[in-house]
Amino acid sequence: MAYKEADDARRAEPREARKKAEQMAFLYDFSRTVLGAQWCVLHLLDEETGELALKASLGMSAALQERAGRVRPEGSLLDEVLRRGAPVAVEDTAAAWSGLRLPYYAPEVRAMAVAPVRAGGKILGTLKVYSLVPRRWSEEEVGYLATVAGQVGLALENARLYVSLRQYYLSALQALAAALEAKDAYTRGHSVRVARLAQACASVLGLEAGEQERLYLAALLHDIGKIGVSDSILLKPGRLDPAEWEEVKSHPVVGARILEPARFPAEVVAAVRHHHENWSGGGYPDGLAGEEIPLLARIISVADAYDAMTSNRPYRRAHTAEEAIEELRRGTGRQFDPRVVEAFLRIPAPEMEEIGGGGRCPGFPSCRDFVPSYEFWGRRE
Ligand SMILES: [Fe+2]
Repeated sequence: MAYKEADDARRAEPREARKKAEQMAFLYDFSRTVLGAQWCVLHLLDEETGELALKASLGMSAALQERAGRVRPEGSLLDEVLRRGAPVAVEDTAAAWSGLRLPYYAPEVRAMAVAPVRAGGKILGTLKVYSLVPRRWSEEEVGYLATVAGQVGLALENARLYVSLRQYYLSALQALAAALEAKDAYTRGHSVRVARLAQACASVLGLEAGEQERLYLAALLHDIGKIGVSDSILLKPGRLDPAEWEEVKSHPVVGARILEPARFPAEVVAAVRHHHENWSGGGYPDGLAGEEIPLLARIISVADAYDAMTSNRPYRRAHTAEEAIEELRRGTGRQFDPRVVEAFLRIPAPEMEEIGGGGRCPGFPSCRDFVPSYEFWGRRE
């Protein structure tokens, strides 16, 4: 099946992409078997430019897809459908060409039926079927096409609502993470840097896009449970006493409890809960070891440690990038998963530099100005 997908669909999660592929397969079957057409084309209006942008096509050559990519509807059959909001069928383009032309030249097309795609009273674009031989579509057949176009409109509207809801949701969570960091100047920007470092590491490890997105979210929220830890402990410049330390250690479990009712993917909740486990065991809260620890949590652990080490804290100055890398190597197989550390150290230097903040690339001059005041492992963020 030859079909063209829009860029946003390529970025969608596999489940969404699969659903879209199923819808396209249905359109393909419907246009061939029910309407006897050889091509099926979906264009959507670009509200900014007034152009029709090709979103999906079945059966058309790559060259014609290219020509039909972005077209202006004015003066064409498509304009007629958009203005009237009703389907139009042309039995033989050779006989009825004047005034009913397509905005892209396709001499193979001999008959076509076009229906508006609408959602909530608004016309979003056009769905077209083409026949390469003259054909008279019955009123009933054109009605079927209009019904399918209506379903396409509904699916598009649902997808749009899903995307905007998801964006609002992510914005709210980012605001929550930022509010947490705002309490403490030393951790400002930490969550976003950890999320970006973790994602860069996941990319080196070859994790698929959906998993990278869940990792980004988990890393962004990994310390959200610190919202339950008092400021006097979080901002304390000296060492913590055992009771204070216990309170800090509760944050992964508190974080997981915050996320669970919001129906986050189980992988995200688990990554937040286990981001302080140790590869060789003995971490918290559950003392898991090795591959018992979820992979996303193992990645966050490395990214978190690296960014914490290369940032200033009230109780110590920042380590240089070289020192932080040395510490990661020292912790390999003990605190950290060796495969994750190895991937982390292969993140391209320009990407590390671009992520910035505490996480500077090795050799970056300003890193050399900082001298670590005391050992890092006495206190983990
Ligand atoms: Fe943490």
